[in-house]
Amino acid sequence: MAPATIKWSGGIDGWAEIIDQTLLPEEYRIAQIRNIKSMWQAIKTLQVRGAPAIGIAAAYGAVLGLREPAGEAGPEQIKNQLKKSCDYLRTPRPTAVNLFWALARIEKVAAATDAVNAEKFRERILAEAQAICAEDKATCRAIGRQGADLIRQDSSILTHCNAGGLATADYGTALAVMFTAQEQHKRFQVYVDETRPLLQGARLTAWELVHAGIDTTVICDNMAGLLMRQGKIDLVITGADRIAANGDTANKIGTYPLAVLAQAHNIPFYIAAPSSTFDLSLPDGDKIPIEERAKEEIIKPWGKFIAPENVKVYNPAFDITPHQYISAIITERGVIDRPDTQTIRQWFDGGK
Ligand code: MRU
Repeated sequence: MAPATIKWSGGIDGWAEIIDQTLLPEEYRIAQIRNIKSMWQAIKTLQVRGAPAIGIAAAYGAVLGLREPAGEAGPEQIKNQLKKSCDYLRTPRPTAVNLFWALARIEKVAAATDAVNAEKFRERILAEAQAICAEDKATCRAIGRQGADLIRQDSSILTHCNAGGLATADYGTALAVMFTAQEQHKRFQVYVDETRPLLQGARLTAWELVHAGIDTTVICDNMAGLLMRQGKIDLVITGADRIAANGDTANKIGTYPLAVLAQAHNIPFYIAAPSSTFDLSLPDGDKIPIEERAKEEIIKPWGKFIAPENVKVYNPAFDITPHQYISAIITERGVIDRPDTQTIRQWFDGGK
């Protein structure tokens, strides 16, 4: 099942609808997001999450941000309002580049659009946000097709966090590869890291895979090494939040140790991501900003202290996997083997 992670409802005066991911798997609830502040909050609190999905959410947020001064707004005013909205929507989370990429697309369209008619201007911005959402769906399907050959009959796969339909407009990136292999009638099983501290693996990925009828086993994050040593993992596939020009990849905290473990056990480690996740302005992963989140996520999950209240806590939400540990990056336009500055540059220059 491909959940409608995020969609626009109604016309220009409509609203965004998201699956509230903070409630899954216990409760499946659609939240209506009717103003820009609520969208900012939804991104910040991970009601909507995953790199491509927060890009789409930000684009819809920009549409919502145009609501207030519409009507008699002049061209200057509405363009200023859009700029203010985009600046604001760039602030809830720093790591996934898709958020910045989507807002840059919105601003480019705004710059090229005559704002004399405020209504038409808003329609054009909504159309771009909807295009970003629709393109993401097609991109995810293409990633699935590009990567499915990497899954062989009876493969055993390990994944981390959630790079599924819930992290995108639909179908996912890492999970797209699995869903496509399933459509090709391959038999395989998936081990899912629970993904502390917020358990996106256990709560979201396992939920998606079980709904799809895929053989799924949840493990704690610290069990991956044992499974690899026991020969239980044939390949690892995860998503990405930002990929630097040399292939260094930011993804959910805990991805880097998995990649190192995979290399130590001679197991291929794959990243699945759309080209919008590449940030070629950064030569390597050192400059990728790493989000730090509240200490409560670690010491007080779901309202109960599991460590002394006054203990020091460090809670980086992402880590960087150096490209040397990545066997290949699966994109919508092909697979980049042994990613490094040269292979990635060739791949982009080749217009593949
Ligand atoms: O903090 P989150 O849940 O937004 O982190 C998400 C991830 O790390 C995903 O693996 C990544 O965004 C890939 S989404 C296809």
